[in-house]
Amino acid sequence: MVVVIGSSNTDMIIQVPRIPGPGETILGGAFHTAAGGKGANQAVAAARAGAEVAFIARVGADMFGERAVAGFKADGLDVQYVKIDDSAPSGVAQIFVAEDGENSITVAGGANANLCVDDVKAAGDVMVNAEVVLMQLETPIETIAFAASLAHENSVPVLLNPAPAQKLPPELLRHVTILTPNESEAELLTGLKVNCEENTAIAARMLRDMGPKDVIITLGATGVFLSTSDFEGLIPAFKTKAIDTTAAGDVFNGALAAALAENMPMRRAVQFSQAAAALSVTKLGAQPSAPRREDIEALLKRTLQ
Ligand code: RIB
Repeated sequence: MVVVIGSSNTDMIIQVPRIPGPGETILGGAFHTAAGGKGANQAVAAARAGAEVAFIARVGADMFGERAVAGFKADGLDVQYVKIDDSAPSGVAQIFVAEDGENSITVAGGANANLCVDDVKAAGDVMVNAEVVLMQLETPIETIAFAASLAHENSVPVLLNPAPAQKLPPELLRHVTILTPNESEAELLTGLKVNCEENTAIAARMLRDMGPKDVIITLGATGVFLSTSDFEGLIPAFKTKAIDTTAAGDVFNGALAAALAENMPMRRAVQFSQAAAALSVTKLGAQPSAPRREDIEALLKRTLQ
């Protein structure tokens, strides 16, 4: 069982020729809504990659929350720990997707900001029996820190995707088993410019010295830098034509949690997750783009044999 703790948002997506600058109005193209939120995207990605998933989250008592939970159920998530919060609206995100696939995202957290330690305690049984606990940083840091310490006390591996970027309490990092920052998150956590392979390796080692056993620095279309006690190096990405890179990192993390929950060796698990992320960028939207297990395996078979 993979337990995901995190945010759920409804994404309001506008396709634009380029990301507008400050004070600028530009004419965009189509508008779409799609299920999103880093936590929910990772939970759905893990389920579609083949894991049994329980999701711990909060949504508002509104239409967005209702639709989100209906989507989780359709993907087979255990939603008994998704709390309907009548004191705050569901989270929403405003997303611009540019023609080259790049994006810019602003989140109004709403009910996500109320996810609390008691919500995690209420899911204590499922947490301590999980194969992996997966979290990100769109919900309060105290809740994440508590969940990490509970998992750590019970020898449950903690996979933390430190996004969106923020400084982390040293105690939290000591309870993380696998950390998956992107370049800018790794830079913020280490103070080192992650601009060449040598610095990436140094940053990964610095992060491992802070607690995590394994560090995976995601480098977009270049691939990922994996640093473990017995391997250190770049694993190149699968080549695909990106339409929308939103949630590529979430799909990577969700698929990684699914792979690790079935004891896949780390390097294979990373490639499995890279294949999932590569497929996700070929489609618009966060959760709509998370691929199914058979499609991930088909891409791996086509490319690696
Ligand atoms: O990582 C992509 C996600 O970030 C979007 O789905 C948006 O909701 C924000 O949480």
